Amino acid sequence: MQGLVLAGGEGSRLRPLTLSVPKHLIPLAGRAMIEYPIGHLVEAGVVDVGVVVGYLGHLLREYLGDGSRLGARLRYVEQRERLGIAHAIHLAIEAGAVDGPFVVYLGDNILAGGVAKYVEKFREEEPDVYILLSKVKDPSRFGVAVLRDGRVVKLVEKPKEPVSDMAVVGVYMFRDPDLVEKAFRSLKPSWRGEYEVTDLIQWFIDNGHRVAYDVVDGWWKDVGTPESLLEALYLLLDSVGGRVEGEVSGEVVGRVVVERGAVVEGRVYGPAYLGRGVYVGRGAVVEQYASLEAGVRALSGAVSRSLVMDEAVLDLGRLRLVDSVVGRRSVVKCGRELHGEIRLAVSDFSRVEL
Ligand code: G1P
Repeated sequence: MQGLVLAGGEGSRLRPLTLSVPKHLIPLAGRAMIEYPIGHLVEAGVVDVGVVVGYLGHLLREYLGDGSRLGARLRYVEQRERLGIAHAIHLAIEAGAVDGPFVVYLGDNILAGGVAKYVEKFREEEPDVYILLSKVKDPSRFGVAVLRDGRVVKLVEKPKEPVSDMAVVGVYMFRDPDLVEKAFRSLKPSWRGEYEVTDLIQWFIDNGHRVAYDVVDGWWKDVGTPESLLEALYLLLDSVGGRVEGEVSGEVVGRVVVERGAVVEGRVYGPAYLGRGVYVGRGAVVEQYASLEAGVRALSGAVSRSLVMDEAVLDLGRLRLVDSVVGRRSVVKCGRELHGEIRLAVSDFSRVEL
């Protein structure tokens, strides 16, 4: 079984964070977002993985390399135009990145429990297509599946009418690349100018092929906006076990990861994550659901429910940073006697002085 991870998108709804990196490289509790899908594939025994890149693709290539650090053998496929998921799959087949049964995992999706048991089931039952579903509150943001008598009868992309609340998760398995190519040739771009994966799978349904499904039992998140980025972080932090490998002379309460080389002189309340080389100074408090990625320096103030990326500096005085995202190497500083909460979305290499 081979894998495909799609990571070509521009992440426009995550600007300004994605002006300097593809969203798939945004760190979440110590790993770049794309390491979750790749890691889940490896865990499922799928080590030959094609990565479809596009927007700022060279940064993904540089970061992931040949994949050996993750236990995978990666090869890259370039998608120059943003023509959708079905098109990306077609390019990968055309490039020879997959030539037998394969699993597609969208690079901005995270499934709590990974995909090992679903890959196993697909291998055993060998349907033509296997999709995963998850009940959602806002079906109009997703592709949804209409079910009848335990079968998928119709897929609708971003439905305007409430035809189903079962969203199609960004993990798809296909038995035969030749059939996928045949299906792709019948497609036309949708209203948003993309070859939709839902239309691709609809072809299989309409032509009498076997489309199986399962409902995922753990949480599932697709990350497209700053809000969903933070939600994914909170879910990930909910599942981390506490582990202290750095130096703590301050106070660490609850489930906190303190990676090697991190120094805590202030206070940290879990669930929280402190990456390698993080410094939490005596005047600083890291509160629940904050993730300070490698090399972050929190000198003063409090930070809560926020993602602070590599090497950023927080010197917040008496302020409390909440529900925020701070990009790599940015500095947020408060020199005056300001009190209260602030909420920021700051891109990489920025400077905020209050
Ligand atoms: C894509 C698919 C959609 C699926 C979703 C899952 O949507 O087109 O069917 O439900 O991924 O993340 P997009 O992210 O392109 O809006």
